[in-house]
Amino acid sequence: MKEGITTQNFKAMHDSQSLLGSLPGNKIRASTPPACHLVRSGRNPDVRLFSGRLPKSEGKAKAMTLSRKTKSTTNGSPLDPADSLADRRITRFSENIYMHTPVMEQEITSLFSTVPSGVIVDATLGGAGHSLAILNSRPDLEIVGIDQDKDALRAAEENLKSFKERVTLIHDRFNKLLQILEQLNIAKISGALFDLGVSSYQLDNPQRGFSFRRNGPLDMRMNAASGRTAYELLNEESEKIIGEILKDYGDERFHRKVAKAIVNARPISDTNELAEIIAKAIPAHSKRSGGHPARRSFQAIRIAINQELVVIEPAIIQTIQVLKIGGRCGVLSYHSGEDRIVKQVIRERAGLKRQNSRYLPAIEEEPEIKLLSRKSKQPSEHEIKRNPRASSARFRSFEKISERYNG
Ligand SMILES: C[S@@+](CC[C@H](N)C(=O)[O-])C[C@H]1O[C@@H](n2cnc3c(N)ncnc32)[C@H](O)[C@@H]1O
Repeated sequence: MKEGITTQNFKAMHDSQSLLGSLPGNKIRASTPPACHLVRSGRNPDVRLFSGRLPKSEGKAKAMTLSRKTKSTTNGSPLDPADSLADRRITRFSENIYMHTPVMEQEITSLFSTVPSGVIVDATLGGAGHSLAILNSRPDLEIVGIDQDKDALRAAEENLKSFKERVTLIHDRFNKLLQILEQLNIAKISGALFDLGVSSYQLDNPQRGFSFRRNGPLDMRMNAASGRTAYELLNEESEKIIGEILKDYGDERFHRKVAKAIVNARPISDTNELAEIIAKAIPAHSKRSGGHPARRSFQAIRIAINQELVVIEPAIIQTIQVLKIGGRCGVLSYHSGEDRIVKQVIRERAGLKRQNSRYLPAIEEEPEIKLLSRKSKQPSEHEIKRNPRASSARFRSFEKISERYNG
């Protein structure tokens, strides 16, 4: 089996899936990828531009403005902590701009600082902020970057262009990890990163339908080409199911009231209309705190549409199977439901899960992984101030220590 396959090799084998060099480029700017590959614009020193040449066919990129201590025009996003902070960055959205600030970047690069040479799977590539930092940190590592969103892959392609010999990009869902690696002839990997959930770009782009502050179609699919849209779910699903989604994925206290209001208002056509229906359904006394009343419901609908929770456990189990000894995996989650799944599966595989019954024989399997810290880590206050969306992040990591686990 061949390890460390290059983009060119992969492109030849799987041209339809490999995106490097094959997608029409969008002109892309990234908000805060690592500075070493960026230059600062003289016109607006807070806007970082790529120093590299962009494809000629691209349209003119619209400017991104970042400034501080001004009244916010931040685009709304589900559970966006930026909402409640006075000192925050202001972004005026342009669809051509891919903006996402990688979270806990330092922790991620130090996680992979000791792993054996080889391939790191960035299972949630996004704009490739983390991948870029990993590639910069070690010349002996390559990236297989997976994302189900083609906009993200286009941005990543641009962001990683100076490393393209060390990068393979795949448009797919990360729970197909084993299948993807098999197609690439990669038998073992040195590491994997899961930065779960949505990117700032997805949240802030009204056309993607995740935003409750700016009007857009009721879409919310990370893969804009397949699956059920939020429009279909909200206009076709039963009140009971909608209520359960709001409760389970959004912890919405008034899930029954909101579900009833949604069903009574059908057909609902856009995100503004949905946000208004939700806001009206929530009692006034509960609206006084906690940001926009539609936040939790938008988050819940997004999680349901993208089936975000069901893929986590299988993906982690596949990762453990394919890691080299000494290989490592890091998971960043932003929602208690995600973190619960991650914690449970890695504790179990590390041999830390409590035996359910004292009458049953103790589990004697050798643990296959060790946790690198017992508790989850969180971003520093400094990082949260700089990037409020990092505030809900929880980071868990582990190292593969043995192949002996039989589960
Ligand atoms: C938080 S962003 C990642 C940002 C990235 N780490 C960076 O530094 O730019 C999460 C990304 O994962 C993608 N994603 C979420 N769930 C996925 C899944 N099951 N399979 C593949 N991609 C997924 C989303 O489309 C999104 O682009």
